[in-house]
Amino acid sequence: MADKFDPTHAHKLENPERLVELPPADIVRLLALRGDETIVDYGAGTGLFTVPVAAALTDGRVLAVDEHPALLAYLEEKVASAGLPEGRVVPVPTADNSVPLPDGGADRVLMINVLHHVHDDPAAMAEVQRLLGPGGRLVVIDFAEMDRPVGPPNDHILSLEQVRAAVADLGLRELSVHLPGDVGRYQVAVVAEMPCDAPVAGGDGDAKATPPSAIGGAGLDTAAGA
Ligand SMILES: C[S@@+](CC[C@H](N)C(=O)[O-])C[C@H]1O[C@@H](n2cnc3c(N)ncnc32)[C@H](O)[C@@H]1O
Repeated sequence: MADKFDPTHAHKLENPERLVELPPADIVRLLALRGDETIVDYGAGTGLFTVPVAAALTDGRVLAVDEHPALLAYLEEKVASAGLPEGRVVPVPTADNSVPLPDGGADRVLMINVLHHVHDDPAAMAEVQRLLGPGGRLVVIDFAEMDRPVGPPNDHILSLEQVRAAVADLGLRELSVHLPGDVGRYQVAVVAEMPCDAPVAGGDGDAKATPPSAIGGAGLDTAAGA
């Protein structure tokens, strides 16, 4: 099983140098936003990148999902002082990979430095797949296999080919691959989308997924619980 993130390392997530090493504008570019999307920031941590992503929306919201409520407490402080509209960022603590959205309810799922923690957790990967409807986009950004002054050692992360394989295993169509220097200094990124003819995750095999825009604004499915 991959390493678990140690929440006592919250201060490392908050290092402002990270915003230089991985400029939020690069993340927003890969998300290719209209502005009204429902974005799931899976493994949002302290929200260092959640807030600038949310600021790129004109409507819509970002569900900041994390298994450590203590990290989301930092995020909530940051959101409160960021001047974002009410509800633009929704903290979602979950210890069991349960995000309160309907199937296909996310227009975008963002995973920054998270895939190397959850790639071998079937429940986490199934939840990411469930959240993405046809045309829904996954943006995975993770540490590159290279000499780096930051991040875990190379034997604790995934190779680019492993990232691509994990994304393909979700049934997603790869749109682009990014190397260090293109997106961030020490990161690789893979952008992929759910094909429009993909069967609904958890469906009967014949059913086709419904675009998120057709699910009443992809509203929070409170029945699913947080
Ligand atoms: C390295 S941190 C990255 C945080 C944030 N994306 C960032 O770049 O600042 C990984 C985060 O993923 C969260 N995480 C790992 N596995 C998770 C899971 N199964 N469900 C929810 N959060 C998870 C951890 O708690 C941690 O906050």
